[in-house]
Amino acid sequence: MQIWRFLRPSALGFSFRVLRDTLIDRLTGAAPLPLRVRDFVAQHARRGDPEDVLRTMDRFATEVRFLMNIGPDKGPLVRELLARLPRDARILELGAFCGYSSILLADTLGDAGRIVSIEVSAAAVEGARANVEFAGLGDRVEIHHGGSTETIPTLEGSFDLVFLDHWKNLYKTDLEAIEANGLLRPGSLVVADNVGPLFGATEYLDYVRTCGRYDSENRVATIEYSSIPDAVEISVYQP
Ligand SMILES: C[S@@+](CC[C@H](N)C(=O)[O-])C[C@H]1O[C@@H](n2cnc3c(N)ncnc32)[C@H](O)[C@@H]1O
Repeated sequence: MQIWRFLRPSALGFSFRVLRDTLIDRLTGAAPLPLRVRDFVAQHARRGDPEDVLRTMDRFATEVRFLMNIGPDKGPLVRELLARLPRDARILELGAFCGYSSILLADTLGDAGRIVSIEVSAAAVEGARANVEFAGLGDRVEIHHGGSTETIPTLEGSFDLVFLDHWKNLYKTDLEAIEANGLLRPGSLVVADNVGPLFGATEYLDYVRTCGRYDSENRVATIEYSSIPDAVEISVYQP
């Protein structure tokens, strides 16, 4: 990731806010963010109501502290893509964080859909599992604790949609591993978040656009809870 991108005038306010909040958390010894979000959700959201859980996380992100959720701007774009999938679709997500996108995906797919989410941080796994349970979606979402690179080769079956939303420098190598392990079927969708100018995922974008195995489309969006330009790349696997 190139730091200078975060220092552009358009991103400076956002970068400053995230840096300031991170420093304050470190200095005050605050609990890990996903656990604070879990407690906030338990206190303010309606149990068993996924929409209310998402709204409550949005409230935390705007009133308390920035959260790197897919958020209310890009969320509808992802929901719209799910209409292309079968009702019993299987989704692989890399990066669960607080469980926001797992909840959004599982709620939109309905009770026949299944989400497998891989998350490297133990606190995020704990927070995400609690939020998913609280939303009443625990039977549709499995959150595995581990790094994507080690976990991908252990997965079985194929996925109708892969949602890449972990560290941006791993998108390309992890997608190559997903292909090599036979986890895609013809027509599977690969959706990559944060491929706009702030993160500049050029290596990944070159790969899906030029390797000859994807039909790829870019949707302009904004970074969650901000007006900073971002984008989502939607690639249909055509081996
Ligand atoms: C942008 S957040 C995910 C947000 C989530 N998809 C949502 O929209 O609610 C990125 C997450 O990826 C996790 N992560 C980073 N590298 C990872 C890796 N190699 N394997 C699994 N998870 C990873 C981080 O710990 C973090 O929780």
